[in-house]
Amino acid sequence: MKIVRTIQEWRSIRRSFEQQTVGFVPTMGYLHDGHISLIKEVQQHADITVLSIFVNPLQFGQNEDYGSYPRDEEKDTNMAQLAGVDYVFIPDVKEMYPAPTRTKVHIEGITEQLCGRSRPGHFDGVATVVAKLFNIIQPDYACFGQKDAQQAAVIHQLITDLNIPVELIICPTIREEDGLARSSRNIYLDSEQRQHATILYEALRDGFKEVEAGERKTETVKANMFKKINSVSMAHIDYVDILSYPSLGGLSQLQGKILMAVAVRFGATRLIDNFIIEVN
Ligand code: PAJ
Repeated sequence: MKIVRTIQEWRSIRRSFEQQTVGFVPTMGYLHDGHISLIKEVQQHADITVLSIFVNPLQFGQNEDYGSYPRDEEKDTNMAQLAGVDYVFIPDVKEMYPAPTRTKVHIEGITEQLCGRSRPGHFDGVATVVAKLFNIIQPDYACFGQKDAQQAAVIHQLITDLNIPVELIICPTIREEDGLARSSRNIYLDSEQRQHATILYEALRDGFKEVEAGERKTETVKANMFKKINSVSMAHIDYVDILSYPSLGGLSQLQGKILMAVAVRFGATRLIDNFIIEVN
């Protein structure tokens, strides 16, 4: 496995792949099983696997955790090597943003709700860095996680609207045994918060069961999920929502492909989770 730190170096390596296809997994590092599952999936499609590790300042708000976002390059590169990654692209901020960027990619409509509402500018930062990474890496395939369902919808829109020649693959959410979705941010939770953090999964599971049992009123399912999460006093709800997927439109009745999504704060740590289900 080779570590590449500059765009110029990667471009000359990329030119040497004439017949082989390139699969790409962009991350912000502090790798866990969720990231590894994306690597394993992309390996099924492509000849060469490229992982990027870049904590992108553009997608963090002023009062967010850019400075304290967990970083461990040595552990990450060891895990990547074990997973069979061929190249890890680890640019520094100067390499990605040598000057303040005057070009930002803004995706309308689907960035105005859920995390887009609570984190203004976040998806502009994500879409901009992913567009840059696609232009740098020039992958044939790219894997993203359903864990960040709104992000996946945004990337799908980006690829479609800008005719980016990348095949998008969305992978299922990897969870801890008790249901908590794997996240680099789980490390911030103290033991009591960690114990209660399963409430996101439990609320989604209860909501799903309610729909399965025949409930079709969005407000009823949402209200019950809200109540469930609120039963944990240290859980502060950012949002509980149910929208059409991937268009992210409001629904009064549950019908078709729907996204049930929650964002909850435990102290300074913000966790998100979701289910995507098909309702007849
Ligand atoms: P990061 O949070 O590091 O996540 C990298 C990729 O891993 C994303 O596609 C995310 O959806 C996926 N992922 C995270 N947790 C997962 C889990 N439990 N199961 C399955 N997949 C999971 O998302 C980002 O970084 C950044 O916004 C990025 C796209 C790299 C742009 O900076």
